[in-house]
Amino acid sequence: MPETTPPVPMEKLVSLCQRRGFIFQSSDIYGGLASCWDYGPLGVALKRNLKEAWWRAMVQEREDVVGLDAAILMQAKVWEASGHVAGFADPLVECKQCHLRYRADELKADKCPACGGELTQPRMFNLMFKTFMGPVEDEASITYLRPETAQGIFVNFENVLNTTRRKLPFGIAQMGKSFRNEITTGNFIFRSREFEQMELEFFIKPGTDEAWFRYWVNERLNWYVKLGIKREHLDFHVHEHRELAHYAISCHDIIFRFPHGWAELEGIANRGSFDLVQHAKHSGKSLDYYDEDTKEHYVPYIIEPSAGVDRSFLAFLSDSYAEEVAGGETRVVLHLHPSLAPYKVAVLPLSRREQLVTAAKQVWADLRRHWLVVYDDAQSIGRRYRRQDEIGTPYCVTIDFQSLEDGQVTVRERDAMDQIRVPIAALKTIIADKLAGEPLFTFTHGGQIWKRGEEEKAKAP
Ligand code: GAP
Repeated sequence: MPETTPPVPMEKLVSLCQRRGFIFQSSDIYGGLASCWDYGPLGVALKRNLKEAWWRAMVQEREDVVGLDAAILMQAKVWEASGHVAGFADPLVECKQCHLRYRADELKADKCPACGGELTQPRMFNLMFKTFMGPVEDEASITYLRPETAQGIFVNFENVLNTTRRKLPFGIAQMGKSFRNEITTGNFIFRSREFEQMELEFFIKPGTDEAWFRYWVNERLNWYVKLGIKREHLDFHVHEHRELAHYAISCHDIIFRFPHGWAELEGIANRGSFDLVQHAKHSGKSLDYYDEDTKEHYVPYIIEPSAGVDRSFLAFLSDSYAEEVAGGETRVVLHLHPSLAPYKVAVLPLSRREQLVTAAKQVWADLRRHWLVVYDDAQSIGRRYRRQDEIGTPYCVTIDFQSLEDGQVTVRERDAMDQIRVPIAALKTIIADKLAGEPLFTFTHGGQIWKRGEEEKAKAP
């Protein structure tokens, strides 16, 4: 694997997330619930932005994808047909001495890693959370929390086809919670029992699957790079036959250099016609597609890019985190793409003098109509800039005494730390332009906006 600087240690990310309110342990005041996480005020903002960026790229900006939001609970028959009741399991072993449990396929030795005790023979452990629907707890009322969002899409294939008059190739996108009773969890939000997925099921004509598979692998890689993940921190893991899920013909994982090592960020699978064939068989409904161009009936193949919201969150956080020396001090900064940053703007009056506070609060109220904007008047301006850097706010707007006279404010950019004076009346347009463009590739200097690569030209006398 290509290596650059070492990844940020996980402890630093966990500490930042807790300190600044990105992520808290679930049920914290009761001592916590293992492998479940609550997203705090900044975390929920970043997570929403991330999902919005995915939806925008996968649905809004495309002509061949529509959206769906299916229920988490579905008929148990869905999971029998999909193969999850019989096959969605990991091999579990237990230490006979300390009773800790492990995934057999992840162990490097045949003894307990904690106490060296003897391990039981592996038994297959189904990862689906089982529950009961209604007041009677019997076989007939068993249902499952979905372990993937994908099945909600497959069982709605006909509904969407009939209501949207789509022709192949086309896709259905969905994001939402999934649940897996993982044997081993850990590495913060990397593997938890309740998480969110962003999945696209792209329906195609059999025979065109290899080309579409390559297309989606490429598209998805570019999505991460466009939003700021360093290309050298992404790679592929091509599944060997023995690693493939029960439904897949082939699968490439996009892997990322997480703080704990290289690991799966997203899986792109060629699911063939497995799912539609299974649901047709179990439901008794034909899920054939009639191709008007060729006058043929066939069951579509499916290419599935399946991304984890929480893993993407961790990847964007870890790749944007930097500790930099600025003005003789070390600053922690999240170089998040502005579209992902929790707050787009921070409004800072230079002091708590009444006139400045009033003017700043007016600017804050105006900008809040467009974006999530924070107001901060505590401590020195330098300390306030650092606080915003640490949570990735791309722009700070400072209102000073001069502003009261000339109606101009200072806009300071997070990455280059350059500052420009702009009229309050033009503030919204200027920030909107910066956010709409490729802001990471521009910087301000001498009151002008420059493209990255033009540093020499900008700073020339
Ligand atoms: N529908 C296909 C599917 O679910 P997967 O590879 O099992 O495929 C897709 O999951 C993505 O969901 C993973 O790449 C990962 O980002 C995320 N994911 C899976 N299990 C997870 C867990 N226990 N915690 C957090 N994210 C998880």
